[in-house]
Amino acid sequence: MPTREQDRILVTGAAGQIGTELVLALRERFPAGNVVAMYRSTPLAPEVAAGGPSAVSDVTDAKGYAQVVAEHDIDTVYHLAAILSVGGEQDPKKCWEVNVGGLLTVLEVAHERQQRLFCPSSIAVFGPNTPAVAPQETPLHPTTMYGVTKVAGEILCDYWFQRYGVDVRGVRYPGLISWKAPPGGGTTDYAIAIFHAALRDGSYECFVSPATRLPMMYMDDAIRGTLGLMNAPFKALNHHADFNLGAMSFKASDLADAIAQRVPGFTCSYAPDARQAIANSWPDAVDDSAARDEWGWSPRFGLEEMVDDMLENLRHGLGTE
Ligand code: NAD
Ligand code: SER
Repeated sequence: MPTREQDRILVTGAAGQIGTELVLALRERFPAGNVVAMYRSTPLAPEVAAGGPSAVSDVTDAKGYAQVVAEHDIDTVYHLAAILSVGGEQDPKKCWEVNVGGLLTVLEVAHERQQRLFCPSSIAVFGPNTPAVAPQETPLHPTTMYGVTKVAGEILCDYWFQRYGVDVRGVRYPGLISWKAPPGGGTTDYAIAIFHAALRDGSYECFVSPATRLPMMYMDDAIRGTLGLMNAPFKALNHHADFNLGAMSFKASDLADAIAQRVPGFTCSYAPDARQAIANSWPDAVDDSAARDEWGWSPRFGLEEMVDDMLENLRHGLGTE
């Protein structure tokens, strides 16, 4: 069942890269007072804080989370609170506690209160043995703790659907590129930092090699895909929380070249660090035919369109237009 006008919506991780934009998008589509932005320690963006209700809670605190949900009488949850790939390698145990322990709490409450749930996965579920274009169905053997938690999360979501009938949906987002909120400590963050450095310094030292190719997506497409999946008729879905979602695939040097064409004098150098090994373990691109067939997914932004839009928005923000 699609989200109804009167439904009350909770977004966890609402101070994050995706949460910031998802809350704003939901408040455009539904009554702003019905969209609750939940965050932990990172403060909400000012427009998110000012535009509707918010709550402070930690998803590893089951009691506190259940209280927030009860207090706001929540019908639908977009569960975005997580530790990403780089943070996960720094503290694997915490990554498990937040990404799997937190999800368990959210799933249990969703079952008790018959909520609808969106829980994203990631290209990090794939590993070094995944084909270059990751199929929808393929053995999942990630080599990062973040990837391990995302595989576990997909399986938990499927279990809650099969055992309890919870309407839980999710996509394997590629690396997401955006300008409204900073990224939260992932391997694909280079593809955002490069824009800021290009406009600020005219140069960037990239932490992955020029030949590193990864699946990527502009945030506008990610938000549209998220809302599109949540709006799809449940009966049309054969998959639930593990849809591959594709948009573009480029090498780090392709991105640097596209920026150099638009920022005169921009240069990019390369100094791969520990994040290179993480990037090497992920595929180049994904086969998203299941998302296209089951709920009509189709991206709008390729590399050129994304670079134009990023630069326009960042220049506008810097007052250099
Ligand atoms: P982010 O790091 O920008 O935001 C996550 C937020 O969760 C942060 O504000 C953080 O403070 C909060 N958080 C962390 N631990 C918490 C806890 N215990 N309790 C409550 N809040 C907590 O991440 P994002 O990029 O917005 O990602 C959101 C979701 O999308 C995650 O599940 C992530 O794995 C997934 N994803 C993101 C990308 C990407 O490129 N951004 C790609 C694939 C998947
Ligand atoms: N963008 C995320 C990361 O790099 C992928 O899930 O961690």
